[in-house]
This record gives sequence, C-alpha cells and structure tokens, in this order.
Amino acid sequence: MSAPNGMLYGGDEIGALVFDPGHHSLRVGYAQEDTPKADIPAVVGVGPATHIPEAEEKTQDGNVTQTGTKAGGDIRHYIDVTALHVPRPNMEVHSYMKDGQIDNWDLFEKMLDYCYAKVIRSPSEHHPALFTEAVWASRGTREKLAELLFEKYKAPAFFLVKSAVLAAFANGKSTALVVDAGAGQTSAVPVIDGYALTHAAARSPIGGDHLANAAKQLLNSLHIQMLPIYSIQSKEVIRERERPRYTLKSLPAALTLSWREYMLKRQYEDFCHCIAQVSECPYDERVAAAMPGAHYEFPGGYHQDFGPERFKLPDCLFDHSQGPQHLVCAAAGACDADARPALWGNVVICGGVSNTQGWMERLSKELSSRAPSSHRLKSHAPPSPQERRFASWIGGSILASIGSFQQMWISSQEYDEGGKGQLERKCP
Ligand SMILES: Nc1ncnc2c1ncn2[C@@H]1O[C@H](COP(=O)(O)OP(=O)(O)OP(=O)(O)O)[C@@H](O)[C@H]1O
Ligand SMILES: [Mg+2]
Repeated sequence: MSAPNGMLYGGDEIGALVFDPGHHSLRVGYAQEDTPKADIPAVVGVGPATHIPEAEEKTQDGNVTQTGTKAGGDIRHYIDVTALHVPRPNMEVHSYMKDGQIDNWDLFEKMLDYCYAKVIRSPSEHHPALFTEAVWASRGTREKLAELLFEKYKAPAFFLVKSAVLAAFANGKSTALVVDAGAGQTSAVPVIDGYALTHAAARSPIGGDHLANAAKQLLNSLHIQMLPIYSIQSKEVIRERERPRYTLKSLPAALTLSWREYMLKRQYEDFCHCIAQVSECPYDERVAAAMPGAHYEFPGGYHQDFGPERFKLPDCLFDHSQGPQHLVCAAAGACDADARPALWGNVVICGGVSNTQGWMERLSKELSSRAPSSHRLKSHAPPSPQERRFASWIGGSILASIGSFQQMWISSQEYDEGGKGQLERKCP
C-alpha cells in the first residue's frame, strides 16, 4: 500500500514505532514485536556534567548508554537506569508526566531524543510513530504531541490511540471494560467496538505510587530503616530481627533530595512487590494473622518476616470509595443498559499494580457481589505479569502492524495540508 507521501506502508517494512508513556515508565519499541525494546523510567535527571569513572565504564556495554545530552552550559540530562542511578552531585530528578499526561515538554523531548539515538538507533524520519494516550488526554496535549512528532522529529506518519482500547486489543477484544492499575492512577474505561467511551471512564489517583508511600509509612511506624542501596558498601550476615551491621560507601556531597527520594521509592516498590498481598476479603487482623508471612531482607542486611502487615498494606487499594471495584461499577453504570452485559462479560485487567499478589482475586470477588445478577461476569488478564504491564504497548504493536490499519495513519503530507485538525478527524 502506498501512502500519500509516497512512502511504502504495510507490514514490517515501515518500521513503525510504538510509544507508551506512563507515570512509572515509557515503553518503546517496534510494532509487530512481542515486547517493547526498552522500558525506561519516566523521569529525567538534570544536573551538571560529572565525570564518574565507574559510571562511564558501565555505559560501554548495552543500549542504555546516555551519560547525558548537552543542553546549553554544562547542564546534562541523565536518562535510563544506567545513567540515572549513579550518585551525582546536584542532579535533580524530574518527572515529565502529570495527571496521566505528558506535562513537561522540554524533558519529554530529551526522552524522545534518547529513544531515537540510543534505543532505536535510527533517525526519527524513517519511522511512523504510534502513541498511546489516556482517555482524558486534553486536546492541547494531543496537538502538542502531533506537532512535536511532525515538526521536530519529522515522523513520516503519526497516530494516537487510547491506551484502554489497545489493552483490549492485546486481549483479543474490541469490546471490554478495561481496568488499568498503574503507578499514578487506576482507571476503568468502557471500550465498545474499538472506541473508548470517554464520558463513562472512571478513575482515581490511587495506584502504585500511593502504595509505595503507604509502605514508607508502614516501615516508619515499625521503626525499620530503609537504607539506600547505593549507600551500602558491605553488610554482615545477621540473624532475623538482629541489629544490622554494615559499612557505608563514601558518596559525593550534594546528592539532591529529589534523587534520593526517587531511589528510595524504587526500593519501597520492591518491598511492595515482594511482600504485599491483597486478601480476598477486606482486611481482618485475625484472618491475616493465620496466613503465612513473607520474609524480606533490607539493603543494610536487616531481615524479618512480615505477617498481617503484608495484607494490611495493600488493602488501601480497595478500602475506599475509589477502589477499582467502584470504578468498574461507575464506568459500567455510565454506559447504555444494552452495552452493559458485554462489558461485565469482558472485564480486562492490566497495569503493573494488578500484579500485586491477590489483587485480581480480590477484584473478581468484589465484582461478583456487585455485578447485576442478569449479567455474566468474566475477567480476562494477560497471562504473565510483564504482559499485564505492557498490555497497551502490545496492543499498539498489534494494531500498527495490521494491513487494514496502514491507511489510518496521519501522514506528514496530510498534516502539512490539514494541520492539527487531522487529529480530531483521524484519531477521535
Ligand atoms: N510485579 C509487580 N507486583 C506489584 N506491583 C508491580 C509489579 N510490577 C510493577 N508494579 C507496580 O506497577 C506500577 C507501574 O505500573 P505501570 O507500568 O502499569 O504504570 P504506568 O503505565 O507507567 O503508570 P500510569 O498508568 O499510572 O501512567 C508501579 O507502581 C510498580 O511498582
Ligand atoms: Mg499506564
């Protein structure tokens, strides 16, 4: 198939790219592949150029090189784990996402520069770009993104799709009620015949970030110190609950609060992934006390079993009026009555937080007591934790590689002729 700008579309020869920006990470890679090529933390370190031999050595291998992009003066931008996780004096960490949307465009551009140069390693003008977006993405954000891709990156074609629609596609469905439990928020979005019903979408700001914060409070209340992993030189093997014995590394002075907090957040997340378990019913201390505990060793060497706390911690995801069960009911309830049976019968679950042990079972249980008795309730989720986290990216990868989609792209020629108006027309 030939596109208006003369470029050959169709199948893999076009090298279309799929970008899935989230609060926790940006997933990027080639359409038609099973998983994204990179899953990059959605923050950018900004600070003066520093020469840290150890970091420079590490960046020699692999595709996560970036020790920084020069941007005037000697301020550099540090992107991706290998560059970002190095203690550097005066490096601040900033997120470019806000409220489920791209918000800081200067930083996001640095991220895209990095993706093309270091992940894709190919000029942006060679690749059509498909972006996922939240159903509540504002018109301004959508237009700005199209402008950036066409005008700065000279993409030959561009397209925007609601992430819920793509998560449904990844599960082989064009009609579904998609529950996405991400880092910055949780949402329930009805999708009918491939279109997201924006007016019926429900969301709450309770997600993985909220859980990580709750973990920090829990450990503070138990007087357990989460020492930063980067500060530990060595530690001794000790008995359970014994006072830790470790030596500290000498670190550069002037490590910023934003960097230290970012690094600690990753550790609180790891703690949640390892020990948190959602119980099938609302938290009950006696029931939780009878359940098996989970062992966790902290970076300083301190280790102990966590009993009822491991169930109490993630209960905050369900125990209020913004829990996913209420979002599903609100979203289904806001749709036409004749659409509801198909939605209740196709609840699709995705997002990293849905991987918390017991999360899906609890949602199913909560929903089974709420689903109208006349409707059959059925939940679907990709089989592996990784596929649940990458569901929208995978849906984008499938969509961008099917033949009938190739005529849907907004080509650069169409954009030049019709401007941003093309967006509302082709990507409603
Ligand atoms: N195995 C796991 N168990 C529990 N939680 C996990 C697991 N893996 C990732 N998470 C959590 O999932 C969240 C990231 O999920 P996801 O990648 O879906 O978010 P995102 O799309 O970047 O963010 P958002 O959708 O809010 O914009 C983080 O809070 C992370 O701690
Ligand atoms: Mg997400």
